[in-house]
Amino acid sequence: MRKPQNVYDNSQFFEEYQKMRDSKINANELIEIPQIKAMMPDIKDKMILDLGCGDGGMSRYFAENGAKRVLGLDISNNMIKLAKSKTQQANVEYIVGEMENISKLNEKFDIVFSSLAFHYVEDFEKLMADISGLLKPNGILLFSQEHPIATAIIPSNKDMKKYIEINGKRYFLLSDYNNNSCRSLNWNIEGVIKYHRNFSSIINAIIKSGMSVLQVGESQADEKAVQLVEKYKYQIDRPYFLYIKAQKV
Ligand SMILES: C[S@@+](CC[C@H](N)C(=O)[O-])C[C@H]1O[C@@H](n2cnc3c(N)ncnc32)[C@H](O)[C@@H]1O
Repeated sequence: MRKPQNVYDNSQFFEEYQKMRDSKINANELIEIPQIKAMMPDIKDKMILDLGCGDGGMSRYFAENGAKRVLGLDISNNMIKLAKSKTQQANVEYIVGEMENISKLNEKFDIVFSSLAFHYVEDFEKLMADISGLLKPNGILLFSQEHPIATAIIPSNKDMKKYIEINGKRYFLLSDYNNNSCRSLNWNIEGVIKYHRNFSSIINAIIKSGMSVLQVGESQADEKAVQLVEKYKYQIDRPYFLYIKAQKV
C-alpha cells in the first residue's frame, strides 16, 4: 500500500487549485456542487462527517442548513487552515487527518459526506468498511468522485490526446477500464496520484461494507455551464463525476 499523497500541501499545486476554485467558474461550482446537493438527505439536527473537506465549503453549508455538528477532515494542512479561517460556526470542527485512518474516530455520524476526494484513496473496500463502522444505523453516505470512464485511460505519454475527432465530433477514448490501479497525472504539477476503479468494484465495495445503494447519479453539464465554459459541451453526454448515495442497513 502506498503512503497517501498530500498534493494539496504542495505550494504550487495549492496555489493553482485555489485560483481555479476562487474563480467560481469551474466544474465544481457549475456542475458537481448543484448536482450532489440535489441528492442531499435531510441534514437538520444531524451529525455529519465531511471527508476530504478542503476549504470547508460544504461543512459550512451543512451548519448553515441546520446540522447539529460537522466534523471536517482533510489530509492537507493548507486546506484545514483555510477552512478554519473561513468558518465562524461553533458547531463546525476541522481536523488534519487521513481518510485511511478514520476508523480511529470515536464518534458516530448520521451522514458521511465526501466531495471529489475518494479517488485519492487506494483501498476503497477498507474506506467503505470504515465509513460503515462510523455510521449510525440507517445512516447515509453521500459522495462524489471522478467517474470511472474519465479516470480509466492510461495515456502512453503526457501529451497524448484522450479523444479523436471525426467529422468535427469529438469521440473520447476508453481504455484500461478494468485495470483497477493508480493513475499518475499531470494536473497543476506532475505526478498527481488518483485511483481508478471500475463501476462494479465501487458498487460491490459499498454492498460488502453493509450498506445498500439508494441512488446513483452521473454528471451532466447544462446549458448555463456550457455558456460560461465552452469546453463543458463535452460533458453534456459524457459524465465526468459519479454520485452515490448509500445507507447503512
Ligand atoms: C478536489 S479536493 C475537494 C475538496 C472539497 N471536498 C471540495 O469539494 O471543495 C480533494 C480534497 O481531498 C483531500 N484529500 C486527498 N487525499 C486525502 C486523504 N487521503 N485523506 C484526507 N483527505 C484527502 C485533499 O487534501 C483535498 O482537500
